[in-house]
Amino acid sequence: MRIIRTRFWKLPAIARFILKHGFGITSALTNGRVYALLTNNTIISVCTINNLGACRELGSVITERAFRGQGYMHKLLRHVVSREGKLWLVCNPALEHFYAEFGFQRARKAPLPIALKIWISIFASFFGGRRVIAMQN
Ligand SMILES: CC(C)(COP(=O)(O)OP(=O)(O)OC[C@H]1O[C@@H](n2cnc3c(N)ncnc32)[C@H](O)[C@@H]1OP(=O)(O)O)[C@@H](O)C(=O)NCCC(=O)NCCS
Repeated sequence: MRIIRTRFWKLPAIARFILKHGFGITSALTNGRVYALLTNNTIISVCTINNLGACRELGSVITERAFRGQGYMHKLLRHVVSREGKLWLVCNPALEHFYAEFGFQRARKAPLPIALKIWISIFASFFGGRRVIAMQN
């Protein structure tokens, strides 16, 4: 098992992995870092660090479906959080306890790019969308 740090466009397999799971290209657009956990050269888990100007966001937190619930994301996030320092994230409220294990706490106020995501989710919730929460470490 190894963890690598790269950029979205440098490794097409990572770009494919993120897009395949329905996540966006914010890290590519913001020239952010991408971390990936691999076993035998197979990508198991990925997350990105998106540079949003006012803050940095942990994004695209994904484990390949067949490998979920085996502690891979715990390994990856412990590594990433210890190296990247202060981060924000936006997540489904069901994951609040998961991210709390890495030192993230729910935030009432957030910098503009994060707040914008929250407001959009509040608006979308009127049409059946899911509301999200902001957390920071
Ligand atoms: C969330 C995710 C990245 C976790 O990856 P993982 O490698 O399975 O994580 P770990 O094995 O290290 O930890 C698993 C823990 O994640 C938490 N978790 C995962 N999915 C969850 C969900 N839908 N609701 C609540 N908790 C969840 C649980 O605490 C779980 O512990 P358990 O297996 O004892 O129940 C993975 O489920 C995934 O890729 N989900 C789809 C993408 C996604 O929703 N990403 C989060 C975007 S904010």
